[in-house]
Amino acid sequence: MDPFVAGLPKCELHLHIEGTLEPELKLELARRNGVELPYGTVEEARDAYRFDSLSSFLVGYYESMAVLRTEPDFYDLALAYLARAAAQNVRYAEIFFDPQAHTARGVPFDVVIRGLRRALLDGERLHGVRAQLILCFLRDQSAEFAMATLLESLPYREWIVGVGLDSDERGNPPEKFAAVFARARREGYLLTMHCDVDQENSTAHIRQCLDVIGVDRIDHGVNALDDPELAAEIGRRGLALTVCPVSNGFVTDGPKADVIRRMLDLGLRVTINSDDPAYFRAYVAENLDVVRRELDLTRDELVRLERNAFEAAWLPRAAKDAYL
Ligand code: ADE
Ligand code: ZN
Repeated sequence: MDPFVAGLPKCELHLHIEGTLEPELKLELARRNGVELPYGTVEEARDAYRFDSLSSFLVGYYESMAVLRTEPDFYDLALAYLARAAAQNVRYAEIFFDPQAHTARGVPFDVVIRGLRRALLDGERLHGVRAQLILCFLRDQSAEFAMATLLESLPYREWIVGVGLDSDERGNPPEKFAAVFARARREGYLLTMHCDVDQENSTAHIRQCLDVIGVDRIDHGVNALDDPELAAEIGRRGLALTVCPVSNGFVTDGPKADVIRRMLDLGLRVTINSDDPAYFRAYVAENLDVVRRELDLTRDELVRLERNAFEAAWLPRAAKDAYL
């Protein structure tokens, strides 16, 4: 790891808390909750999980969540992430959570959010990392389930900064959730959506994010550059793109570093993030280091990537300025 990358103050904007479940904690939670797993050691747990596409990744991803049952489980998960983040000099993080992946198997919404919220408060106190939550809807579930989840979130409105859209993109375009996101906007949530790398209809999905949904940010979005007019519009709106190079390398042919270079050259607000670091074995510093090596980035360019992220953070101006 490059020492400059290691020491750089960082901001992480694309991080699924369920994707931080390391095999050690998975085994511990399985024991605690009496959940049977098809493996007994950390090595077996890592080996059992092979994938080469977004869909095959997501199958094992949701299966692993069976060990998350109680409020302390969600607390332990998030606090462990924040301790790791602090060790990489992450100062601020926006953290996705997937409530439907838990409520669908009988874990109440309030168990999930109370555990996460308590970890965020303790994470800032113990580790000095500030963090906020983004509720993600599962796009391969119905719009009705998403709307019901949005309504379920409203008593906790003050604990959630925005909403996102994740899971399997194939056949699940942004416009499927237009009414849900319109309501979320009226409730005061900020809006983002995944437009995963090299999906069917990628540019059409990004276009819908702009014209139908009116997003405040785009998660991944690397295919925006396939359409110069789309890329120009993202630039005009100053929308941030939360790119996850190591994740992209797992589900496509590589980390898409050339696209990151072109985004930088176009002056787009590109940011570097980790997505599901326990599964892709790379937290944000490792992701930055991959891009540094691939593109031979200068220190100024590395600083620019982190400034882009702090600038794009869903924080009041004065709080952002404190980091910049
Ligand atoms: N859920 C967790 N990681 C994801 C990803 N990279 N794309 C879509 N949904 C996800
Ligand atoms: Zn993601």
